[in-house]
Amino acid sequence: MSRKVIFDCDPGVDDCIALMAALASPDDFEVLGVSTVAGNVRLEVCTRNALALTALAGREDVAVYAGCPRPMVEPAIAARHIHGETGLGAAKLPDPERAASDIHAVDFIIEALRGAPAGSITLAPTGPLTNIAVALVKAPDIAKGVREIVLMGGARSEGGNITASAEFNIYADPHAARVVFQSGLPITAIGLDTTLQLRCTPARHEALKTLGNAAGEVAAQMIGHVNQVYGEIYGAEGAALHDPCVVAYLLAPKLFETAPAFIDVETRAGLTRGHTSVDVYGPAEDANASWATRLDAEKVFALLLERIGRL
Ligand code: BDR
Ligand code: CA
Repeated sequence: MSRKVIFDCDPGVDDCIALMAALASPDDFEVLGVSTVAGNVRLEVCTRNALALTALAGREDVAVYAGCPRPMVEPAIAARHIHGETGLGAAKLPDPERAASDIHAVDFIIEALRGAPAGSITLAPTGPLTNIAVALVKAPDIAKGVREIVLMGGARSEGGNITASAEFNIYADPHAARVVFQSGLPITAIGLDTTLQLRCTPARHEALKTLGNAAGEVAAQMIGHVNQVYGEIYGAEGAALHDPCVVAYLLAPKLFETAPAFIDVETRAGLTRGHTSVDVYGPAEDANASWATRLDAEKVFALLLERIGRL
């Protein structure tokens, strides 16, 4: 049976690739909506990209909802140095023919969860957690509708990517992340420790190029850009495919290893803002999340490639 999912994202190259794989999987996911949040690029740009991506995927049946234009407390930051000015790297997508819904993403999330049977909707955030946190603060009763939250964010042994001690999504809105981790909801967090294991190596980049469909071509153009940036900034061969890990986990959790963890977030300004304290050694009953520790990179990439090839 397909799983009801809301993809909350800030597209962004890797968000787009995650969306491609998700939208190509109608037997696995009933996508209730794609909600956008300010993150990698400005909210308007994220929303435009989400609309353009649904068109590319032939999934204009999926509504796009624009959400919060800035984090709960901090001013917005962006990651244009990684994703480029448009958020799409070197790819160009035609302007979307349709507009986002008039309904704010936070209200969409609230209404979807309120109207749903208990424990039935999965939230899959791949950007800053602002929309999810604001929805939980505005309407705490919606928690009962949540099946689980599977998010990309945080770091334990990998330190950070936006600063030495913080991962981008959590750093961008640490207060929202704290609200989410303290929500008591079932959470699986896939952070840098795991996502950095999934690299778009030259061979994988080539495999995308030769998929033979428009989505593969666009994904390869996006990856071409971030691979170059990763080479320049980190001296690494192949950018990490962070956000697609969320979709892969939902499709095939057995390809991942996880450990129960107590996760909290540093919200104060300073060197450690947005740091995730991920305690995997405490008592299991104190855990508030499942922390991904490892993935099978070959199989995860093959799965994503196969899904993108379906578009
Ligand atoms: C996360 O930050 C963003 O730049 C990516 O889209 C991903 O969600 C990785 O730290
Ligand atoms: Ca993202």
